Amino acid sequence: LALAAGTALAQTYPAKPVTWIVPFAAGGPTDALARSIAERVAREIGQPIVIDNAPGAGGTVGAAKAARAAPDGYTMLVGHMGYMGAAPALYKKLNYDPVKDFAPVFRFPDTPLVLMVRKEHPAKDIKALVEFAKANPDKMFISNAGVGSSSHLIAALFASSAGIKISQVPYKGAGPALIDVIGGQVDGIFDQTNTALPQIREAKVRPLAVTSKVRLTQLKDVPTLAETVLPNFEASTWYGIYAPKGTPQAVLDKVQAAYQKVMADKAFTDRMAEQAIQLLPAEQYTGAALAKHTQSEVARWKAVAAKTNISLD
Ligand code: MLT
Repeated sequence: LALAAGTALAQTYPAKPVTWIVPFAAGGPTDALARSIAERVAREIGQPIVIDNAPGAGGTVGAAKAARAAPDGYTMLVGHMGYMGAAPALYKKLNYDPVKDFAPVFRFPDTPLVLMVRKEHPAKDIKALVEFAKANPDKMFISNAGVGSSSHLIAALFASSAGIKISQVPYKGAGPALIDVIGGQVDGIFDQTNTALPQIREAKVRPLAVTSKVRLTQLKDVPTLAETVLPNFEASTWYGIYAPKGTPQAVLDKVQAAYQKVMADKAFTDRMAEQAIQLLPAEQYTGAALAKHTQSEVARWKAVAAKTNISLD
């Protein structure tokens, strides 16, 4: 009966606008990437996709809201490495399970991050920043998008691996967090390239290092952490669209097919590549690939958190 109902639902789907929950404030990298993809998927499915910014607790508030939404295809979550990967290792009480409560629909391309400091910061390069932090323990204020956000996780991994102590300042998203680096209220941030590059181009912040394996063509003079202070360090934020568990497969297939068309549009993917967004092989974009990736990431972050005692603070 459920199958028949699901198939009937899929026939008319989508009969009204669809909501994608972005669990960060507008203006951050997750919001920006989600909106650019939503606009094109909406054209393919023939209904608007409305972004519902539901920030709080590193994205876990919005993820819990999505887990409880009706499984009818009209509410989906824009998930990412933090609240759909690391959160189970960081939050003792998490009122959703990234694996059990969701049906993965498709994966976005990844975004590496850039460590940027406020223009007046004395550190002119990454080595000087590490030296400064060693000489001034707890005098370095790094903003992030909340506990468990990628800006928080990667800053915590950086501090732990570099042997420095930093103070992390949480915001409702990397959008507002970056504004305070530009304004000089905080010293620095790890932000994804799609929102970092425009600020760097306008010289509003100073880039010191990137988290990608090799230098980014858009920032040839900015070294990787791996080639400077942290050998073998590599990190980027992954993302994906998740429907509440129980959403009919025929609905998921419809949205997944629309996304495949969007990602086959070279003009669109070229524009993402210009933002140093890391495109993936097409088979990585599927729901099955995202399901596998989510499971392996939840396990990986449990091991990382145990080893580097990344805590909630
Ligand atoms: C983060 O994890 O730092 C988020 O991506 C920030 C955001 O998108 O606002």
